[in-house]
Amino acid sequence: MSPIPNSMNSAYAIVTGASRGLGKAIAIELARKNIPLILVSSSDKISIVASEIKEQYQVNCIAIVCDLTQEENVLSLANQINEYYDVFLLVNNAGLGGTQPFEIAPIDYVNAIIQLNVMATSILTRQLISNLLRQKRSYILNVSSMAAFSPIGYKMVYPASKAFIRSFSLGLNAEFKSRGLSVSVVAPGAMATSPDIVRRINGQGFWGRLTLVAPEKVARKSICQTLKGRKEIVVNPLSYFFSQIVPQSIRTFLLTRVVRRETLL
Ligand SMILES: NC(=O)c1ccc[n+]([C@@H]2O[C@H](COP(=O)([O-])OP(=O)(O)OC[C@H]3O[C@@H](n4cnc5c(N)ncnc54)[C@H](OP(=O)(O)O)[C@@H]3O)[C@@H](O)[C@H]2O)c1
Repeated sequence: MSPIPNSMNSAYAIVTGASRGLGKAIAIELARKNIPLILVSSSDKISIVASEIKEQYQVNCIAIVCDLTQEENVLSLANQINEYYDVFLLVNNAGLGGTQPFEIAPIDYVNAIIQLNVMATSILTRQLISNLLRQKRSYILNVSSMAAFSPIGYKMVYPASKAFIRSFSLGLNAEFKSRGLSVSVVAPGAMATSPDIVRRINGQGFWGRLTLVAPEKVARKSICQTLKGRKEIVVNPLSYFFSQIVPQSIRTFLLTRVVRRETLL
């Protein structure tokens, strides 16, 4: 376990989307480092997860239920946090995706992806930035995806939302790094985090399964590199290599073919 600087001990880390999957793995990784936590998700399950973590790792762990697709909820969450807590690490992990032909994708679903991935990440960051800057050293970890590197058919607005997160993070890092706030972005490939994602990855066949990484491994590497101030975190070297050497038009063609198989399940 890497030692945590003193200034971090009383300040909190916030993890959005921590009730399961990568967010829960990140919360556990931070709890193992004895970091007090504020965990957020839209369902009551977050209270159970917070209690389990508190009991197992003996760290302060606060659960907040908040539907982050609604701007007014994001604003009141940030107000509540700013009023009561010092924050040294913000992990914008909550995210939504899916695979569907765009012409039949429900409008509400398309909008929820944009609100959660783009609006909530930007507005929560904006509202917490003064709190983060008050700390001697602070960090933001934004969860993007390998999809940020390639437009992909049948993924609706998801790849574009993740490209937004990557660009947003790198810009913020350039703006705030010299003031003690470093901003990192991680681009995971496929992770088997829910039955729906497992079904989709299996539907992609060999290539989908080849690049699979466990969420616990992604969490460990992401937190370690974030606390070192690394701006861009690669957790899947094979997918990253593919994204860098294969021209974008070929990547988009190949990935769209692979993803299309999910829609035929
Ligand atoms: N899994 C993959 O293959 C993969 C690959 C690349 C990138 N990613 C990215 O990694 C992140 C985590 O993915 P994951 O697979 O761990 O996701 P997941 O298992 O679906 O979990 C999503 C988390 O977000 C919370 N959430 C969903 N809607 C919310 C809302 N409206 N307001 C607040 N919280 C909400 C969920 O909790 P509640 O249901 O309790 O709200 C849950 O805790 C996402 O940003 C995703 O895009 C995933």
